[in-house]
Amino acid sequence: MTSYPMTRLRRTRATAWSRAMHREVLVTPADLIWPLFVTEGEGVEDPISSLPGVSRWSVDGIVARAREAVALGIPCLALFPNTQPDRRSEDGREALNPDNLMCRAIRAIKDACGNDIGVLTDVALDPYTSHGQDGLIDGEGYVLNDRTVEVLVGQSLNQAAAGADIIAPSDMMDGRIGAIREALEDAGHVNVQIMSYAAKYASAFYGPFRDAVGSRGLLKGDKKTYQMDPGNAEEALREVEMDLAEGADSVMVKPGLPYLDIACRVKQAFGVPVFAYQVSGEYAMIEAAVAAGAADRDAMVLETLVAFKRAGCSGVLTYHAAHAARLMGA
Ligand code: PBG
Repeated sequence: MTSYPMTRLRRTRATAWSRAMHREVLVTPADLIWPLFVTEGEGVEDPISSLPGVSRWSVDGIVARAREAVALGIPCLALFPNTQPDRRSEDGREALNPDNLMCRAIRAIKDACGNDIGVLTDVALDPYTSHGQDGLIDGEGYVLNDRTVEVLVGQSLNQAAAGADIIAPSDMMDGRIGAIREALEDAGHVNVQIMSYAAKYASAFYGPFRDAVGSRGLLKGDKKTYQMDPGNAEEALREVEMDLAEGADSVMVKPGLPYLDIACRVKQAFGVPVFAYQVSGEYAMIEAAVAAGAADRDAMVLETLVAFKRAGCSGVLTYHAAHAARLMGA
């Protein structure tokens, strides 16, 4: 039995060296995945007003960020394109163009950095559709599952051919992981991983992201017929179970902090690599608190990141990745 005063839990907290020695979980730059937004042009840095401190970069700038990430010890980038309006269409066919912005960015990073860094690519049609939904829609605007999966398979093969290391489907269609895995195997991309956005919620925290990829103004309605209901946890375990059975190498929970219970339960139930996406609205909340003088950015960023590790995550997608890596002494 441990009881006071023989046991005083404050003893080990009394000095910095002792706190360091007893810390259960550490977060390092290797735990970070850095999401980046790509835009057309040359030498372009286009700040995103709803994500203060985050910009869209033209491909040359993306390559510079990739080199920066390598220097900081960040192992992986997550790319999202801001597709020009004239390249968007009802069916999002630009996603299949081997020379689309995404593919050009992948190739440029791989040419510059090779296997010094991983490139994770988003699979979903919202950056390419004129209606901002993640898939093909019918006359009522309902997102069609099976027809969308066919396009997502093509999109995945297109990204893998350009050199993507991790295919990350964020669309929440049923059955897409199996279809994509099979197509990757058939095409010989046996070592291209799939990180499934397995438990992705229909969240109010995605607003700034939609600004960043240019889909916010286009989106009519919501994504509740495919993304999960925020009240559900058991269903998240079923989503994860299915994606793993279909061949996902790792799974993601998204958003991050409001869904830490889900990340923790997924880790405990399956023991697989779990990643969390600290999404745009979470980043914006921290920055707004800092701007209001209500919080210390550095402390807040590090505390949120260690929370993900404590919950059992293998890593975190965060817009604070480069800043956090610097804080960690990289
Ligand atoms: C869409 C996608 C979204 C995000 C990543 N991929 C937004 C959405 O589902 O509408 C959100 C990421 C963020 O908010 O940072 N396929």
